[in-house]
Amino acid sequence: MSTSTSDVVYVWAWPSGETEPVPVGVLRSRGDDGLWFTYGRRWLERAGSFALGPDLPLGTRDFEPHGDLRMPGSIRDAAPDSWGQLLITDRIVGDRNRDPNTIDPQVFLLNSGSNRLGALDFQASADDYVSRDDDAALAQLQEAADLIIAGEVLPPQLAAAALHGTSMGGARPKATIRTSDGEWLAKFSTSRDTYDVIHAEAMGIALARRVGIDVPEFKLVASMGRDVLLARRFDRGAGGTRRPVVSGLTILALDESTWRDGGYPSLVDAIRLRSERPGEIAERIFQRVAFNIAIRNNDDHLRNHAAFWDGQHLELTPAYDLSPAPTSGETAGQALAYGREGQRNSSFRDVVAVAADYGLSNRRAREIVNHVIDTIADTWNEAADEAELSRRDRSSFQGWLFLNPGTLDGYTPVDPAGPPVKTSGNRPGRSLDRGRFDFRRFIDDAAGSSDEVSAIDAREQYGLGFQDLAAIVGRGESGARLDDLGELRIPTSALAGGPTGAAGSTPADR
Ligand SMILES: Nc1ncnc2c1ncn2[C@@H]1O[C@H](COP(=O)(O)OP(=O)(O)OP(=O)(O)O)[C@@H](O)[C@H]1O
Ligand SMILES: [Mg+2]
Repeated sequence: MSTSTSDVVYVWAWPSGETEPVPVGVLRSRGDDGLWFTYGRRWLERAGSFALGPDLPLGTRDFEPHGDLRMPGSIRDAAPDSWGQLLITDRIVGDRNRDPNTIDPQVFLLNSGSNRLGALDFQASADDYVSRDDDAALAQLQEAADLIIAGEVLPPQLAAAALHGTSMGGARPKATIRTSDGEWLAKFSTSRDTYDVIHAEAMGIALARRVGIDVPEFKLVASMGRDVLLARRFDRGAGGTRRPVVSGLTILALDESTWRDGGYPSLVDAIRLRSERPGEIAERIFQRVAFNIAIRNNDDHLRNHAAFWDGQHLELTPAYDLSPAPTSGETAGQALAYGREGQRNSSFRDVVAVAADYGLSNRRAREIVNHVIDTIADTWNEAADEAELSRRDRSSFQGWLFLNPGTLDGYTPVDPAGPPVKTSGNRPGRSLDRGRFDFRRFIDDAAGSSDEVSAIDAREQYGLGFQDLAAIVGRGESGARLDDLGELRIPTSALAGGPTGAAGSTPADR
């Protein structure tokens, strides 16, 4: 491990389809001006050489970091982020409280694990490649992460294991794992979590796949009595090949201090320009926005979006970090603006209003949003089985982390001024329009009854739609909050014969 500050770091890359890395270029420190990158002559002359990112076209010039970056963006994408920097600051620099910005960036590059995002690695030599990639057991990795989070000293036997997590971005404790079944990103829970983040993220992935969003395969495995989420690495190919990836930050040429200037529509524009499937990109990204709103994934910053890069083209990677996050009230905002004017309210009504920013009609935008809502409602139980949600989380997550009433507020599945909108294709004939359902009567009836069922059971037994429940609990006059969804009691008298007012839907429809 190197604590000395070398002024030079060699960048190695895995050429397409190859299983061994080759030297590509060099990063040279220019002090406060950061690390400048230059391609090596051997790489420029090599058949099959490719530009490392859209910001680093092949050529002989020196590339400087832009904005607040300490190295060019597509190199930074492969460098440790907050979690990795914390481990290295602790383990190598010996002071976990030190501001990482006061440490030379080459220290992070040369001390992080070699199994990093995309197809790059960093070395002290241009001739000898030495992998910093020892295998470690999941339990060791988790134990190391626990100790770091608890602010405790890592025993030497765990220190090497801890460095496994350093090469991937993000703030949460994680590690790269290789099993007989391929390569995975492992995400750990922490003692500071206030809700079950691991199963909530698993639920995010399970629902996204049902909605039709491309997501990595995931597994939940037990380690030291806790579940760990394993997501299959999308940047790894067969037999040890690696696939280059660049982050949304790099695609938009932004840095950590300016990324809020970007937004989903700019991401659409930038990827479309370089995509081989430009026609799909606007709908795919709009769908991801709608889904992030639906699952209260408010941490949808530009490092949580990425594209494969083959030297010329950008194609969206599968969606990742689909992590619902609690907010105290019903209002919330997306980290990344979804409207060209900076709109970011976590609201379906508001996102449909900016459909034109994606070149979509209002009708098409509503179809996409309706499909997201319907699919979450319709496939909740099977997705919860797959994500191994506890009974308690099954009810508490509904309407809180997923389809919070704040997101539904003011949203109408059909445009009152427009032609009819098709809803979920798998349930022909069912309308999402709940306009005829008398929530006030429902709540009033609830007050005097002794024969009650829970709101969750009402959904199961009587076929109440998810939006009905959200509306009952979120906007009813009983004083109940959606947080209490599992607790809310509903009189069976109000449900007798099925929710006849509920847009005419019956359990048989569902
Ligand atoms: N399945 C995957 N395959 C390859 N790379 C991935 C995968 N999932 C995530 N990544 C990469 O790892 C990084 C960290 O993952 P992730 O965003 O899930 O972690 P996090 O710590 O929860 O992030 P944040 O700080 O945004 O909360 C991502 O920015 C992405 O570059
Ligand atoms: Mg992330």
